[in-house]
Amino acid sequence: MNKFQDVQQHLQQHRYHWLVTGVAGFIGSNLLESLLRLGQRVTGLDNFATGHRHNLEMVRAAVGDEAWSRFDFIEGDIRNEADCARACAGVEFVLHQAALGSVSRSIDDPLTTNATNVTGFLNMLVGARDAKVKRFVYAASSSTYGDHPDLPKVEDRIGNPLSPYAVTKYVNELYANVFGRTYGMESIGLRYFNVFGPRQDPNGAYAAVIPQWVAALIRNQELRINGDGETSRDFCYIDNVVQANLLSALAPLEAANQVYNVAVNERTSLTQLYGMMRELLRERFPHLDAHAPHYVDFRRGDVRHSQADISKAAQLLGYQPTHRIDQGLRQAMAWYVAHLAPTSDTSAIPNKQ
Ligand SMILES: NC(=O)c1ccc[n+]([C@@H]2O[C@H](COP(=O)([O-])OP(=O)(O)OC[C@H]3O[C@@H](n4cnc5c(N)ncnc54)[C@H](O)[C@@H]3O)[C@@H](O)[C@H]2O)c1
Repeated sequence: MNKFQDVQQHLQQHRYHWLVTGVAGFIGSNLLESLLRLGQRVTGLDNFATGHRHNLEMVRAAVGDEAWSRFDFIEGDIRNEADCARACAGVEFVLHQAALGSVSRSIDDPLTTNATNVTGFLNMLVGARDAKVKRFVYAASSSTYGDHPDLPKVEDRIGNPLSPYAVTKYVNELYANVFGRTYGMESIGLRYFNVFGPRQDPNGAYAAVIPQWVAALIRNQELRINGDGETSRDFCYIDNVVQANLLSALAPLEAANQVYNVAVNERTSLTQLYGMMRELLRERFPHLDAHAPHYVDFRRGDVRHSQADISKAAQLLGYQPTHRIDQGLRQAMAWYVAHLAPTSDTSAIPNKQ
């Protein structure tokens, strides 16, 4: 039995009380679904800044009434200290996901990004400290590697941040570290690399690349690739991220007060990504035979290449990604077809899982 199977078995036998912030968002709602399926009690906090009630409704429909009765939702804002204190009361594990994502959004509006990602983060640390939670696991980011040229990225070699968003995520790590030293708090930071999967929002100016492109491909709309298409990322399916969070919460003390890369250790260029997605959807959507991307300018603040060394997470957390990009894309495409093209069926998309 691997470490994750161990942890899942343990959770099936022991009920803990978890707080998931950002619970109405993409990653938060997937964490909620997994925790409820494992028999856990969950409090969720969200202000619907970028998350959606329909994500919570989907989880409810997926897990059923008994599991849903173990969930309490607080509509609140992490920029408000009292909301954080209320959400942390009686909680054993915090999975802190609430933040304003997107490099571009942070360049357009650094103040709101800072208020949410830095002040909000600090409020959550204080709330978790005062509630004496067992462990605080938080969403850090691969953007912290900034302009460091090395590939793959290793946790202790970072460069200068390239965007306000990257600054906020690095400040999170600094604060979590200081709370460990000064208050004895146990935290683990997970540097996610381009996560994708069901419930990631395809709409809006700041949508992530995969859901934005799925929507454009299904709707036969213009699709833009920033730069020459050689920009590359270590795309990470949501199940790997859920695994890393649950392992982190229950990992031994030696693993705490550190940060870990969460990805696959593979690199896919944007042009390759486009080709894979188009191929998966082409049979179901014949209009894609004539579809081609438009190459436009590079985007400000973007890191050129990204790939994670995941050996630290493997060694100290027992992390073993279950999904590579092709497996994840197949599952995600099937979900998007079902949700973005309501009249369609998903049988044309091969699902090997
Ligand atoms: N998706 C990725 O590829 C990726 C990569 C690196 C890091 N992250 C981090 O992972 C976390 C989750 O990201 P996601 O992709 O699920 O994004 P998301 O936008 O889907 O989820 C974020 C959630 O936080 C909520 N939120 C925002 N501001 C809030 C506030 N002031 N108070 C309460 N709730 C608030 C939003 O409403 C939303 O539901 C974020 O911290 C993000 O920075 C994501």
